[in-house]
Amino acid sequence: MTLRFEASCPDGLCPGWSIILKGETPAEASKFEINFLCDRDDKIAFHFNPRFTESDIICNSYMANHWGQEERCSSFPLGKEEPFQIEIYSDSDNFHVYIDETKVMQYKHRVEDLKTVTKVQVVNDVNISSLEIAKKHFY
Ligand code: GAL
Repeated sequence: MTLRFEASCPDGLCPGWSIILKGETPAEASKFEINFLCDRDDKIAFHFNPRFTESDIICNSYMANHWGQEERCSSFPLGKEEPFQIEIYSDSDNFHVYIDETKVMQYKHRVEDLKTVTKVQVVNDVNISSLEIAKKHFY
């Protein structure tokens, strides 16, 4: 695993914070991941995993030492060597994912205590040009 970016927010990222990743995938890209983690107990609250080998985006959570039921995005709007923007934010019920401002996924929270989601990381085949973490004010 190649860690490209990691940030912690001790007060919690969910709900209320929006992550906006701008980047490009290299020609030899096979997959990358954006993970929202519960830092204290090794859970992955939300694993967002575009796979170029399958032209599919797999979403899942890793809890109690295993992966749960996978959920797939309905579309794959990513191309190798093409710049993209991914925005992920959550409200109290779901993570919401937009690629280039089109919604591609709504993922119902599986972690009960959202306050424990304190870390975000970007992993593997992606060249990050910017990553913005911004407060969403819609509550
Ligand atoms: C596994 C893969 C993990 C993760 C998981 C999601 O097959 O090894 O990295 O993507 O699927 O369900």
